Amino acid sequence: MTLAELDALHERSAGEVAAAADAAALEQVRVRYLGRNGLIPAIVKQMKDVPPAERPEFGKRVQAWRTALETALAEQQQAFAAAAPVDTPAFDHTLPGRWQSLGKMHPVSRVIEETAAIFARLGFTVADGPDIETRFNNFTALNTPAHHPSMDASDTFWLTDDLLLRTQTSPVQIRMMTQHRPPVRIITPGRTYRRDTTDATHSANFHQVEGLYVDTKPVSLADLKSTLAHFAKAMMGPDAGVRFRPHFFPFTEPSVEVDFSCHVCGGKGCRVCKMSGWIEIAGAGIVDPRVYEHVNRARGDDAYDPSKVNGFAFGFGVERVAMIKYGIPDIRWLYESDIRFLSQLA
Ligand code: PHE
Repeated sequence: MTLAELDALHERSAGEVAAAADAAALEQVRVRYLGRNGLIPAIVKQMKDVPPAERPEFGKRVQAWRTALETALAEQQQAFAAAAPVDTPAFDHTLPGRWQSLGKMHPVSRVIEETAAIFARLGFTVADGPDIETRFNNFTALNTPAHHPSMDASDTFWLTDDLLLRTQTSPVQIRMMTQHRPPVRIITPGRTYRRDTTDATHSANFHQVEGLYVDTKPVSLADLKSTLAHFAKAMMGPDAGVRFRPHFFPFTEPSVEVDFSCHVCGGKGCRVCKMSGWIEIAGAGIVDPRVYEHVNRARGDDAYDPSKVNGFAFGFGVERVAMIKYGIPDIRWLYESDIRFLSQLA
C-alpha cells in the first residue's frame, strides 16, 4: 500500500463518520476501521511489506489517522447523545416529599470501624478469621497448656475434640503468621464466645479486637505503650492516658493489663471508674517466643526465628469500649435491638 492510498482511506473514513445517521451507524464505522478485524489493525499488520524507506512516514500517518478517527468518532457520539430526547415522566411538584429515615451504625460496629481507622493510620491492616477454630490455633499455638482452665468445657464451647467456638480473636495471630512472613502488622476484629452467664457486664457472645505487630526490627514494651496511648487519645479524647499493670497471659511475656484514664472524671475518681480514676480496657504484652516456635512448626520453616523476630500483641473487648465511650450501663442493651436505645446514640 502506498502513502497516497493510505491518505485516501483516511479521507474516506472521515467522510463515513460525517455521514453516519445515528449512534448505531457510527458504531459500524468504528468496527470497520478500528475493530479487532478492522482495516487499521490489518494495515498495521502488513507494515512489513511497505518499502523500508517509506515505513517511518507510513507508520506516522497510520497513527495520525487512528487518533483523528477516534477523536471524530467520540465527538460525533457526544453530539448524538446530547441530541437524544430525555425521557421525563410526569412529575407532580405539589406532592409532599418521601420521608427517609436514616439508619445509624450500631455502637459495636462503630467502635470496630473507628479502631480500624485509627490503626490504619499506624500501618495496621484488618485481618479476619473464622468463628470456629481449632484447638491448635485457639490454645496450643498460643502456648496455653492442656490443663489450663480456659480449655475447660465449662469455659469454652467445644464442638468436637478439636474444634471450638473461638474464645478470643488471638488465633487470627497464628493464622496470619502461618500464612505471611514478617513483618506483620494487623488488627483483627471479630466475634468471640465464652460460656459466661449473661449479666450486666457479661455475654456468652461478644467481640474483641486483637492487635499484632511482629518485626525483625526491635519492638519493645515502650512501642506497645506508645501505640496504645495513641489509640486511647484517638478513641476516648485528647486527655486520655494509659497505664500498664503487670499481668499474665500464656502467649505474652511480659504481660500487662492496660487501663485507660477515666474519660468521665478525667482521673479524679467517679462512679464509672469506681473511684480509681482508671478503667481496665485491654490485655497485652510482648509475644512469647514459644508462639513463634509453634508457628514455625506449622509453617515448616523458621521464618519466625525467635532469635530474629519480636513483637507485641494486645486485645480488648469491643462492647466494653463501647459501653465506656457511650456511657452504656448494661451490655445486654447492645444486643436487644431496641430502637429507643439505639436511636439515642447518634
Ligand atoms: N486474648 C486475651 C484475652 O482474651 C487478650 C490478649 C490479647 C492478651 C493479646 C495479650 C495479648 O483475654
